[in-house]
Amino acid sequence: MRSVREAGERIEALRKLIRQHSHAYYALDEPTISDYDYDRLFEELTGLESQYPKFHSDSSPTQRVGSKLSGTFSEVRHVVPMLSLNNVFSEADVHDFHRRVQDATGADQVEYMIEPKIDGLAVSLVYEDGKLVQGATRGDGEFGENVTQNVRTIRSIPLELQIETVPAVLEVRGEVYMTRSGFERLNEQLIQEEAEREQQKQSKLRSKRKADASPQDSQSDADASKSADGELLTNSPPSVAAKRVTYMNPRNAAAGSLRQLDPQVTSERPLDAMFYSIARLDDEMLPHTQSGQINLLRRIGFKTAVDAVVGNRVEDCLVAYRNLLEKRDHIDYDIDGVVYKVNSLADQQKLGQITRAPRWAVAHKFPAQERTTTVTGIDIQIGRTGAASPVARLEPVEVAGAIVSNATLHNEDEIERLDIRVGDSVIVRRAGDVIPQVVRVMSGKRPPGTPRYEFPKQCPVCGSQIVRDENAAVSRCTGKLICSAQLKQSISHFVSRGAMDIEGLGPAVVSELVNQKLIESVAGLYQLGGVVLESLARMGEKSTQNLLNAIEKSKRTTLPKFLVALGIPHVGESTAIILAENFPTIRVIMTKSEDELSEIHGIGPIVAKGIVDFFAEQRNRETIDSLLGSGISLEPLRLPDATANHLQGQRFVLTGTLEAMSRSEAKKRLENLGASVASSVSKNTDIVVVGDNPGSKAVKAKELGVKCWDEQEFVNQLAATGALQNQ
Ligand code: IVH
Repeated sequence: MRSVREAGERIEALRKLIRQHSHAYYALDEPTISDYDYDRLFEELTGLESQYPKFHSDSSPTQRVGSKLSGTFSEVRHVVPMLSLNNVFSEADVHDFHRRVQDATGADQVEYMIEPKIDGLAVSLVYEDGKLVQGATRGDGEFGENVTQNVRTIRSIPLELQIETVPAVLEVRGEVYMTRSGFERLNEQLIQEEAEREQQKQSKLRSKRKADASPQDSQSDADASKSADGELLTNSPPSVAAKRVTYMNPRNAAAGSLRQLDPQVTSERPLDAMFYSIARLDDEMLPHTQSGQINLLRRIGFKTAVDAVVGNRVEDCLVAYRNLLEKRDHIDYDIDGVVYKVNSLADQQKLGQITRAPRWAVAHKFPAQERTTTVTGIDIQIGRTGAASPVARLEPVEVAGAIVSNATLHNEDEIERLDIRVGDSVIVRRAGDVIPQVVRVMSGKRPPGTPRYEFPKQCPVCGSQIVRDENAAVSRCTGKLICSAQLKQSISHFVSRGAMDIEGLGPAVVSELVNQKLIESVAGLYQLGGVVLESLARMGEKSTQNLLNAIEKSKRTTLPKFLVALGIPHVGESTAIILAENFPTIRVIMTKSEDELSEIHGIGPIVAKGIVDFFAEQRNRETIDSLLGSGISLEPLRLPDATANHLQGQRFVLTGTLEAMSRSEAKKRLENLGASVASSVSKNTDIVVVGDNPGSKAVKAKELGVKCWDEQEFVNQLAATGALQNQ
């Protein structure tokens, strides 16, 4: 048993330790402890605090989530007004700004602090005696909303400053934002929750209807078939299409999340915050440059922009602008420009401010990521498996530096949710490398009489019925073999690099082959003769010969590549490798049952069903017979040397989405091979595995010169260790 005094000391020590580790993890992105050990410290502290309530402290790391507000947010008066920035859009404007600064300071050379402009919402935090006592939104610059309870839930915001000499008052300014990946996850979760709520509502209403229904009382029955909001109920799977439950962009999501009355909700939202200036601090403690302020902020526990740099010339500003513009797509949060600030506080004072913006700073804005345009049509594209994906055709518009003329509409639900119609004015958004999205329809601008868009019931290519997958959002053309769109896509997939790797069969040639009925299945590729190929519009003698050579060469392939080429549902490269490692030939695989396949580690019941169903189809078996009959030979998979485990001891970081497996599975596999997996990149990292839509970790790896593997390389390396075979 420890004495009360010892308990108090331990509590203090734990708080300090946790504070340091959280700062390293959340603010610096450089973890100093494993999640497991962190949780242990946290549990110990929670336990001690409940055992010894007399040591309660509001700024303990355990006290981030407070209780719900009953009314609205109270008003806060900003002692120092929160200014906004003037925007400029061109290099010429930046030169003008620089000249004005030169004139006002009388200096030829001006030092600037160059910072990314984070696209979130401005906040101001007040610390008294080192403890966070107030957090407020900007509001109109003079009065904001008191969101103290909510900012406290943001893990990268210190509840207590890490500072030797504690100032009586410190007020800092910064931006609360949400990462793009956090935003995507949040929206998915909101849709899921709404679907669950809807499902509950429907089943409640159904049972109510049953209970109420009586032959004499048809009126109440009719009423019961409408939901509270007057939506018609159907027996189809619950759809969240009619309601917008998601946020439009990360900035809106951050603002919405910070303005929740229940801090518990805010604490579950992936919010973060970066700080860039000090509004109040004793003069003797206040650094006299903007860069000094940022350094101080970083030192005492705040997250600050890693990309902030000091420049001596206006050209430095422009170079930094171009660098950040290029980097913008590769970082996980939105930046809408670059801020140039005169670095010397004395010079800032000389320049002063006009109305609500300082004359010593300017925001050089990036091209907008959201633009308004018009929908000129809605087309349905048919994929390899018949999936019918609607695409909005748009009046071309430049969005974040690229011309956008199409945007995917995903599926029928999305069309319904947006209520998008041909002729509508819409806001399109392109962020990162992400394909352009229609975020909103401006229905107020809709021309009168514009009809609703009806999702087609027939395939626009082959006329077959379009049917929606049970309990899913995907609609499919049922035409299969007779659908030329599906055939074209299947052929393009068959010849692609990861499959049979036949060069020279681009979409135009494939299209012509199918349209002219020169080929009716992928097997037909091996029956094509030179004369036929040369007759095609785009084929000369040389390209024909090259293509024939490529087709011939493709006949020598491996079992996994062949399996991928067939386009079996859910069978990508890694599943194909697993199959090839477990069975010697395709003929053997074709005889396996769902149970037998599911027994293999890495093959779940859905994949097993996909495989069995595929081989059960007569025409698929015929195609395989024909392919093998035309001389395709499948090399057995080279079995790896399982003892040569070159991943032992290597330090990995995973970023982005992997197609073949979840991140946790990738982590498990690596750990089974003796490698370790960390959550952030440092110079000690050996390899970063970069999946789709990678986050800032990929950028950091590049900066630090850490080796990166793409998914292909990762799967190959796993295969080479035997990991895909052993598990
Ligand atoms: S300085 C007097 N620096 O941009 C200085 N603002 O209108 C005023 N912002 O919402 C702000 N990143 O929160 C400054 N590095 C940065 C910034 C930044 C984002 C936001 C700010 C406000 C808007 C300025």
